[in-house]
Amino acid sequence: MSAPPRDFADLLSPAGRRVLEGRDRTLTGILADPDQRVLSIDGAIAAEPARAWLARLEAEMRPALVPVSHPIEARRPRRATAERLGKTMRFATALLARRDSKSYRRAQRIGLVRLLRSDSFREFAQALAGRRLRPAWGIQVSCYGAGDYAGPHTDDFPDLPAARAGYLDIHISLTTPAVAGQSLVYESGGHFCQQIELATLGGITAYRLPLWHYTTPLQARPGQEQAARRWLLLGTFLYA
Ligand SMILES: [Fe+2]
Repeated sequence: MSAPPRDFADLLSPAGRRVLEGRDRTLTGILADPDQRVLSIDGAIAAEPARAWLARLEAEMRPALVPVSHPIEARRPRRATAERLGKTMRFATALLARRDSKSYRRAQRIGLVRLLRSDSFREFAQALAGRRLRPAWGIQVSCYGAGDYAGPHTDDFPDLPAARAGYLDIHISLTTPAVAGQSLVYESGGHFCQQIELATLGGITAYRLPLWHYTTPLQARPGQEQAARRWLLLGTFLYA
């Protein structure tokens, strides 16, 4: 298999390119609409580069990931109505924030840092946001295996002045064929009543955060638990 492209723009399908270039009338500036909090674009990444990047991550990135596990606190409430759930989750990740970390060096070597730092990645986010985004942004790679999930949370950072007014996350999903499904459930009108499918090969989801949401346990196809993984390439963008 040939080396995957390293500029985000070169991964895009014709539909993805229309978004990047502001030619998609339904999606350009869509997240400026206060009612539009979550968005998914199936097939934004073309099939061939999606497969090539999935293969590269599977071969090169897995050993550099760190497991994250925050289980449910096993403390019995004093009263039946006093149940409280903290932030629960299980997956593996590499927060690509420190250049001297093993995961950063690995991501740099395989072209992942170059990909997520593409100017075109920010331009794509900006096209959806309908407003200017800061020229520097956060990048991360995560991986959900069979049964991995993220419990209800908001991704709210009220103590960070730059994020107080909200911010934008763009996620690229690269899912192995062994996965049967994984969903995002999010809040609308005070209820967890919205759901979208995340287990795509080359779909892009965009989130205007903070927002209550959770990610359901990744479902493997029968007998394929060992090979079931959803890779998540992530950019976090602040408004300019
Ligand atoms: Fe989240």
